[in-house]
Amino acid sequence: MAEKVEVKIDGKTLEFPVIVGTEGEKAFDIAKLRSQSGYITLDPGFSNTGSCTSAITYLDGDKGILRYRGIPIEQLAEKSTFVETSYLLIHGRLPNHDELEAFSHAYNEHSMLHEDMINFFQAYPSTAHPMAILSAMVCALSAYYPEFTNERPTPQEIDRIAIQLLSKVRTICAFSYKKSIGEPFVYPRYDLSYVPNFLNMMFSSPTRPYKIVDEVSRALVVLFILHADHEQNCSTSTVRLVGSSHANLYASISAGICALWGPLHGGANQAVIEMLEMVQKDGGNVEKYIAKAKDKNSNFRLMGFGHRVYKNFDPRAKIIKKCADDLLNKLGVHDPLLDLAKKMEEAALKDPYFVERKLYPNVDFYSGIIYRAIGIPLNMFPVMFAIGRLPGWIAHWKEMIQDPATKIGRPFQIYTGEPKRDYVPIGKR
Ligand code: CMC
Repeated sequence: MAEKVEVKIDGKTLEFPVIVGTEGEKAFDIAKLRSQSGYITLDPGFSNTGSCTSAITYLDGDKGILRYRGIPIEQLAEKSTFVETSYLLIHGRLPNHDELEAFSHAYNEHSMLHEDMINFFQAYPSTAHPMAILSAMVCALSAYYPEFTNERPTPQEIDRIAIQLLSKVRTICAFSYKKSIGEPFVYPRYDLSYVPNFLNMMFSSPTRPYKIVDEVSRALVVLFILHADHEQNCSTSTVRLVGSSHANLYASISAGICALWGPLHGGANQAVIEMLEMVQKDGGNVEKYIAKAKDKNSNFRLMGFGHRVYKNFDPRAKIIKKCADDLLNKLGVHDPLLDLAKKMEEAALKDPYFVERKLYPNVDFYSGIIYRAIGIPLNMFPVMFAIGRLPGWIAHWKEMIQDPATKIGRPFQIYTGEPKRDYVPIGKR
């Protein structure tokens, strides 16, 4: 017999079905709780609420496990490419040789932007944050490719939009950078694979060809792979929630980009470097800033530390720290901010405040050091996160729209405002 959970409410015993995941994770389904008892559950920030079942990513925060479609990220980071990992996330399995070739070929086919879209870039102030440009441009794609905005796209249409987005977002990101520095746009090239193509669009110019360095490309591939999905995080949940109203994929992803932008989420990589620069300017006094991070009267937090689900270590941070060390060694770069970051990590990991709260470096703590070494400007860091997270967003939107159990997302609340009172005309208030 299927397992059930009994809950006693107001003297009545109610039964709820238990849902068990592949790895033995358990939930009980409270969808009928309100109709049977009048109660809702209250869980601000969804600290304990599952919003869906999903077959995409498995995460165990206590053991530091992260797998895409069953495959550990350590293996993907070592052996896969970003294009192959994107296929894995979106299609549910690794591609064979022909499938991978066709997938890569489609990237090239869709890498250009409609020329009219170039006007948008020109209209933005040069100081515009590239995340503002990216989110607007992704939404604007729906106006240029309206044939893919059906309420219920077919699986073939979804796959086509997926490729379009993966390829065009890379171009949009590079163009938004070029706009910000006032250089002419560099168009995508057919002879380059995903990451070298991006680097070339970012850094080459008519007077300054960019030399692709394999180690730099690989470091970026690893970063993109490690960012590619993270189950029901803030931006992915946003993509699913927006998509649950049958908003099209472009609109849903655009919303996800906005959610990612915040410093508690994908904006943390930028915030980490800003924090390290501030500490460095202030004489590198690590103790002072660790104390500030612990002080409840201060707004200061140790950026790049802590995670809602990882309570032991973030497996992505482990790989990224090593990757940062390796890349800087290979490039012969000495970044004092890396030394400072290590000092701050060491001090925090010894401090009872951080130990008790199980606060460890997360994916954003060392990623910025790699971006800096590559020459990516600070305000582009969240954009790099967005490029990486895109296949995950797409995979979740696809899973959500194809799942017959999906309903429009519509949480409840407990009202704490005024009780009923009468309107008083303005002269009598
Ligand atoms: N520095 C100082 N104290 C912290 C930090 C931090 N970075 N993170 C959490 N805490 C404290 C927090 O004050 C609270 O203390 P207390 O129990 O005394 O009230 C306790 O630890 C639990 O924190 P929380 O805010 O309830 O935890 P959360 O799960 O709601 O938030 C978080 C998770 C990532 C938003 C938070 O740890 C944070 O703000 N970290 C800094 C921003 C950051 O690095 N974000 C990137 C996350 S990884 C990329 C991604 O996937 O988004």
